[in-house]
Amino acid sequence: MRPKRALLATATLAVAGALTVGMTLAMAPVASAGTTLRAAAAEKGRYFGAAVATGKLSTSTYTTVLNREFNSVTAENEMKWDATEPSQGRFVYTGGDRLVSHAQANGMGVRGHALLWHQQEPGWAQSMSGSALRSAMINHVTQVATHYRGKVYAWDVVNEAFADGGSGGRRDSNLQRTGNDWIEAAFRAARAADPGAKLCYNDYNTDGVNAKSTGIYNMVRDFKSRGVPIDCVGFQSHLGTTIASDYQANLQRFADLGVDVQITELDVMTGGNQANIFGTVTRACMAVSRCTSITVWGVRDCDSWRGSDNALLFDCNGNKKPAYDSVLNALNAGSGIPNPTTTPPNPTTTPPNPTTTPPNPTTPPPGGSGCSASVSLNSWTGGFVATVKVTAGSSGTRGWTVSMTLPSGSSVTGTWSATASGSSGTVRFTNVDYNGALGAGQSTEFGFQGNGSGAGMTPTCTAS
Ligand code: XIL
Repeated sequence: MRPKRALLATATLAVAGALTVGMTLAMAPVASAGTTLRAAAAEKGRYFGAAVATGKLSTSTYTTVLNREFNSVTAENEMKWDATEPSQGRFVYTGGDRLVSHAQANGMGVRGHALLWHQQEPGWAQSMSGSALRSAMINHVTQVATHYRGKVYAWDVVNEAFADGGSGGRRDSNLQRTGNDWIEAAFRAARAADPGAKLCYNDYNTDGVNAKSTGIYNMVRDFKSRGVPIDCVGFQSHLGTTIASDYQANLQRFADLGVDVQITELDVMTGGNQANIFGTVTRACMAVSRCTSITVWGVRDCDSWRGSDNALLFDCNGNKKPAYDSVLNALNAGSGIPNPTTTPPNPTTTPPNPTTTPPNPTTPPPGGSGCSASVSLNSWTGGFVATVKVTAGSSGTRGWTVSMTLPSGSSVTGTWSATASGSSGTVRFTNVDYNGALGAGQSTEFGFQGNGSGAGMTPTCTAS
């Protein structure tokens, strides 16, 4: 305790000193500085947004902060495929429309999220493949983008299609298996349906120059050179306790291709650096003239999908955290977008300069002659999403089953790319028709969402 107090006192003095020195210089901008995130961002021609769960719009602490501080909203789940087309050809827009009305009534823009994603696919689509899936997904893009035409300023047309690890290649999914051109087909369909929305590709673990972000960079460069309609790249920015030193340089290299960049799902693990990291991200965006919006993935800490990470700008009572001040100051100190325009400039022809720093791949151990499985979890209070990687052993598989025992009180609420038998206790997940056959050492992924906790689940894989 003692040393900490001493440190704190010194730090406070140092900050006070810095402020006094900075004061005269900063006087003029401070006079017109925004006092809320939305005002400060708007003065600089940008959006400052939050992911919203429409179910919370009737909670007054939540809505008070939302309406006061944000001028953009993203549906946390309501515009995803499972929500908008729960059975094939039956479209449900209730949740999304509710958010759009709220936004319109409160002077906010709407970011559409997400037309196509391998997660939160409805069950009927999970079990489709090939040309049937290709036409179902294009129809989905067309219908949903048409419904929201003129109501969203940007769409995440495709979410998370690149693999983690050092390959820089695509992630395996039933969408990917319809052909490598599925992404451009989706962008073309989205442009035809809503020519006014900025069309974005959105992904995570792209917070610096790395193999994954370079894979995406190369795709965007290729799209621009061939006239595939892409206008922006979203950087989710779900961050831990550090941030890549080339975060800004990475945004800039994409901007230099002639696309806007947007920070789309920012949240930062709590800890000594949280306020600094939020500030660094905001400064990076403000320093890139094509960085048009920053969205945080929730309003208060207890709204976050990251549960106990306390990853957001407000505490559960709606009080501003130090990270809030850090963001507000960075917005006020930043420069405005010089000439906000909707016409992207010509793509540059600068060759890419990919570096090959691989992120940490999560390769499961080889499974001998059978198969092996490993699980990664995204948890929040009361729920989780589990992504399970199945890897064939030296003989390959014709089919596989993964058994997992859920903690008592937890249950499976939805599954993609596998069929679940049972929903609590020991649940068996069996391959669907298109992902049972794996060559030696090959992998596939499936996933499920659950209520309760997913902690401590150990998958066992059996091959047939
Ligand atoms: C998350 C939501 O916050 C959760 O409520 C939901 O259960 C799972 O999805 N990347 C994305 C977002 O693009 O859509 C995810 O949102 C978080 C990771």
